[in-house]
Amino acid sequence: MNLPEEKFAYDTLVSELKQHNYKYYVLSQPSISDYDFDQLLKRCEAIEKLHPEWVQPDSPTQVVGGAITKNFEQVKHTYPMMSLGNTYSAEELQEFDQRVRKSIGDNFTYVCELKFDGLAISISYENGQFVRAVTRGDGVQGDDVSANVKTIRSIPQKLTGNFPPSFDIRGEIFMHKKTFERLNNELKTELLEQGVDEDKIAERLYKNPRNFASGSLKMQDSKEVAKRSLDAFLYFVYSKENVCETHAESLKLAESWGFQVSDHYQECANLDEVLAFIKKYETERHHLSYEIDGVVIKVNQYKHQEDLGFTAKIPKWAISYKYKAESALTQLISVSYQVGRTGAITPVANLKPVQLAGTTVKRASLYNADEIERLDLYELDWVYVEKGGEIIPKITSVASEKRDLFAQKINYIHACPECGTELIRKDGEAIHYCPNDSHCKPQLIGRLEHFVSRKAMNIDGLGAETVAALFQNNLVRTYADLYILTYNQLNGLSIESEEENGKVKKRSIKEKGADNIIQGIAASKAVPFERVLFSLGIRMVGETVAKKLAQHFETIENLMDASAEQMFAVHEIGEKIAENVLRFFSDADNRMIVLQLKEHGLNLEMQYDPTISRSDVLAGKTFLVSGTFSMSRDELKKLIENNSGRNVSAISKSLDYLIAGDKMGPEKLKKATELGIKIISETDFMGMLS
Ligand code: IVH
Repeated sequence: MNLPEEKFAYDTLVSELKQHNYKYYVLSQPSISDYDFDQLLKRCEAIEKLHPEWVQPDSPTQVVGGAITKNFEQVKHTYPMMSLGNTYSAEELQEFDQRVRKSIGDNFTYVCELKFDGLAISISYENGQFVRAVTRGDGVQGDDVSANVKTIRSIPQKLTGNFPPSFDIRGEIFMHKKTFERLNNELKTELLEQGVDEDKIAERLYKNPRNFASGSLKMQDSKEVAKRSLDAFLYFVYSKENVCETHAESLKLAESWGFQVSDHYQECANLDEVLAFIKKYETERHHLSYEIDGVVIKVNQYKHQEDLGFTAKIPKWAISYKYKAESALTQLISVSYQVGRTGAITPVANLKPVQLAGTTVKRASLYNADEIERLDLYELDWVYVEKGGEIIPKITSVASEKRDLFAQKINYIHACPECGTELIRKDGEAIHYCPNDSHCKPQLIGRLEHFVSRKAMNIDGLGAETVAALFQNNLVRTYADLYILTYNQLNGLSIESEEENGKVKKRSIKEKGADNIIQGIAASKAVPFERVLFSLGIRMVGETVAKKLAQHFETIENLMDASAEQMFAVHEIGEKIAENVLRFFSDADNRMIVLQLKEHGLNLEMQYDPTISRSDVLAGKTFLVSGTFSMSRDELKKLIENNSGRNVSAISKSLDYLIAGDKMGPEKLKKATELGIKIISETDFMGMLS
């Protein structure tokens, strides 16, 4: 490379690193592994060593990666929040140890701690009372997330024992692995119920517990944060007073004041003991209930920490050793293709079982046809699997040198494995679909599952497995069939469920269960029209779209016979949604099912409560409600809708009114004022209605 080319490559690398920092810290959705990021950062450092004249003050090597999120108050840290130097190798640890010894001699110890994979927090206490909690931000100032941190039970509001009058404590907020799996599963169900396409769901789910924790801490509604069951370990005390002499003592003290300090730390006399600690937790970490990504090694004695001091960015008395994502080599047995509720096909690699990061791996996701192409996968190939923070392992590469000479390339299927229909792949999309949505079994079962689910018809007693059993036994094929089910058909029906170990367990519906289902089905006839419409499972018709269509067209007949143009008249209904609605109602089977549902007594037109007054006085006006009011925000929004106004969720130039309640965020107020939006009170609003 000549010099201009080199400079160009450097600039590209810098902007790439900035992008990754943004995705990691601001969006909480990183697109590369920590290891790959660190490798890029190291390459950047190496180039900067050769060309110090290129280094900008905001180069990712010079600043702490985080950025500030807009919606929280910014607070300057009393003590800047630095990051740590990190390494993946024992040699570099040895170099660190030599540097330390050269500077302070041999009369010191280390403390090894786990490097918790969460997000750093700095919490201030005055006279034993929680004052505020601030994220790392850019290291100099961060977001005041006190309200959210207060929802974490392991962080005390009031301290006990003999604490200094004023101090900051640093630690890590994280989510337990079990909580992550549970919440991510709930999120998936919710997205499916909202009608989000399957290939979009993976993008919307959190990749690992760290991202979920970080996404949670940035939420504006603390009540929601409380549901995320976050946890925290504290690991560093900053105080003007001398509370003790060593870091190890400070951990004991912090514990006595009421903080949660991890038990997994150890004072080490020398590098060998440090290496032994690292080795121990390389395997032990898989048995912890939370994720760690390495070990932090700190010089124990404060006086030595002071002597060693800091570089511009990191302390010279501490370093982190990071574990590489573990990988295992195993053989591909076959590729199978799963068909989802929307007909989306997901290829899955079936593997010879292999131990990886504490679990047995038998399957890996192959995502889509492009991924199989990228891996250049052949039958019976030997492949490397990795768990890169994500729970589902993936194939990172193929050991093509071990490939059999006569092996055949894996060819993506052309026909649906369930119904044989030729698959389609739309331009610009990575996913193949089975278009046979009216007769392909998993799609039919999937749609029935959606129909009975909580946010749809909410039929008590009917879960995914029961629905599958009803389908397999030819008792229910369409939504309408549910309404002719009898007690006798249900009582004693055998239901199969697959357990984690792959075994199939059988149980049968008892009398009480059958009763419950029959009652649940009858009760579902009271579900309002907008939710019945959502339950039909029309592509792209999620809860919000269903509501808009229902309110606009008022009866199912009007909607069934509406043209695309008539649908465009509804706010935010565009070509794609209209196309899907038209397609659904152009199918004779679908039309018949809808009519049968009507005969069974389901609500297929809007029911207006005569006690609620309605008007058009707010027609054409948009409103944003923010803060707290004498009624709930939902009630206020309902009032707006009932009087033909429209609720929006963000401030923009086109917003007509901001209804400001108590405790409204200062940022919103500022933005609305800047844009010249009319800011009105609850009383002003009520005045508009009369
Ligand atoms: S000590 C100056 N101890 O790792 C002291 N950090 O890469 C700085 N971390 O920003 C922090 N576990 O978010 C320390 N036991 C631990 C840690 C830990 C996780 C995080 C922390 C820090 C980052 C540095």
